[in-house]
Amino acid sequence: MSNKRILVAPSLLAADPLRFGDDLALAEAAGADMHHVDVMDGHFVPNLTYGLPFVRALKKHCRIPLDVHIMVSNPDAVALDYVEAGADILVFHVEAAVHAHRLIQTIHAKGAKAGIAVNPGTSLSLVEPLVPYVDLINVMSVNPGFGGQSFIPESLERIRAVKKMLEQRRRVDEVYIQVDGGINAETVDSVVDAGANFLVAGTFFYGAPDRKQALQILRGEA
Ligand code: DX5
Ligand code: ZN
Repeated sequence: MSNKRILVAPSLLAADPLRFGDDLALAEAAGADMHHVDVMDGHFVPNLTYGLPFVRALKKHCRIPLDVHIMVSNPDAVALDYVEAGADILVFHVEAAVHAHRLIQTIHAKGAKAGIAVNPGTSLSLVEPLVPYVDLINVMSVNPGFGGQSFIPESLERIRAVKKMLEQRRRVDEVYIQVDGGINAETVDSVVDAGANFLVAGTFFYGAPDRKQALQILRGEA
């Protein structure tokens, strides 16, 4: 992956479950880079969303890659199933994985990109040892579980700290810094200034009357 350009992945969590097909097609027509798919197990986070059959169906019908964010207590056990189901990028939580390093290797061996996500209240020291191996680091800017929450301003320092880690390991051109939660017209500039180059947007994108314009705003083109 090269991170020269800012990528935007609308989060399906904010789409209308009874119109997923239409919403996915609209996101693709608007020019989204990937679909962000939030898998929640009702245990690692209080909310429950989709599972493997849904991801398989997405893979069959979508024309852009799937960025699958698994908010589950047992990523070591289930992550590869999501890769087989169709995740192009599989993002798991550092708080939940027991063997994060091994998991990254096995995701790569299956041919997918591997990402790690870190909650707002988790020390970035859990991220640091994995910097040489990952393709993406998702700096959560809300507590995971729900869409439509407010951006936590301290996330900016954390994005900067992650960027510094990447610079120290000379991986800043290879690893995406993803930001997830509360991204909209008001918060986007500050996260991009801090170093984020992969934006997840649920409410802002799917709630926008003009989704093409929403993408342009997020990419700084409007
Ligand atoms: C939160 C999810 C996010 C969520 C973002 O647990 O990981 O991907 O969909 O939604 P917004 O953009 O509405 O904050
Ligand atoms: Zn997410």
